[in-house]
Amino acid sequence: MSPDSDNLPAVPADLAAMRVGYAAQAMNSPAPESNLDVAALEDGWLPLLRRWLDQARSAGVVEPNAMVLATVDEAGRPASRTVLCKGLSEEGLVFYTNYGSTKARQLAAVPYASATFAWTAFAHQVTVRGPVERVAPEVTAAYWHTRPRGSQLGAWASQQSQPIESRSALDARLAEVTARFADTEQVPVLPDWGGLLLRPETVEFWQGRANRMHNRVLVTRAEGGWTATRLQP
Ligand SMILES: Cc1cc2nc3c(=O)[nH]c(=O)nc-3n(C[C@H](O)[C@H](O)[C@H](O)COP(=O)(O)O)c2cc1C
Repeated sequence: MSPDSDNLPAVPADLAAMRVGYAAQAMNSPAPESNLDVAALEDGWLPLLRRWLDQARSAGVVEPNAMVLATVDEAGRPASRTVLCKGLSEEGLVFYTNYGSTKARQLAAVPYASATFAWTAFAHQVTVRGPVERVAPEVTAAYWHTRPRGSQLGAWASQQSQPIESRSALDARLAEVTARFADTEQVPVLPDWGGLLLRPETVEFWQGRANRMHNRVLVTRAEGGWTATRLQP
């Protein structure tokens, strides 16, 4: 504890005073969007999610495909962390991870997740919820071989989410796998590593507006298609 930590206010004043009106964010887009409405979701969730993702990418948002993935542990308590969405189609959202990691173990026990994108520069948020399953090994292999060699070796070096005694021990593991694959042109796919597909059951689009009068539209899987419902902000 630092000597003057006792003098820190419980909630720093600058945090409490941080406030955004959302009018500016609404204007950030090259063609300012009108109010989000259920009509924008008539064709389901995918076109608008693609459009918002593209908008963030074109504007130079760093890692616009980053999403916060929530799972539950064995006691039903939530756990969350960021992952990168690496595949987007009518089927759902794909991310890649170590199947021995905490998140993947939790998903093996309770195969259901919630993933949230937040592009605050545009006052846009999208939350996708649904069941999760492993992708086919060929899909994982195709993605693995697009990864830089350094990332492939790093994945081999790490038993994700397991404790390790020190940074130097981790670096030694990287040196070890780098030497092991030195004469191998293509680093093989790490066993027990791969893609997970989140199949949307619900997708909520949130668009910030002035005076807290935000737009929210919930898209729900229905017989043969999707239904869109406006929610109060
Ligand atoms: C921007 C960002 C992107 C990340 N992308 C991934 C990813 O795609 N896959 C992954 O396994 N971990 C990714 N991570 C690391 C995870 O947040 C997390 O630390 C790791 O997966 C271990 O989580 P777990 O112990 O809950 O399984 C990313 C972290 C950040 C900050």
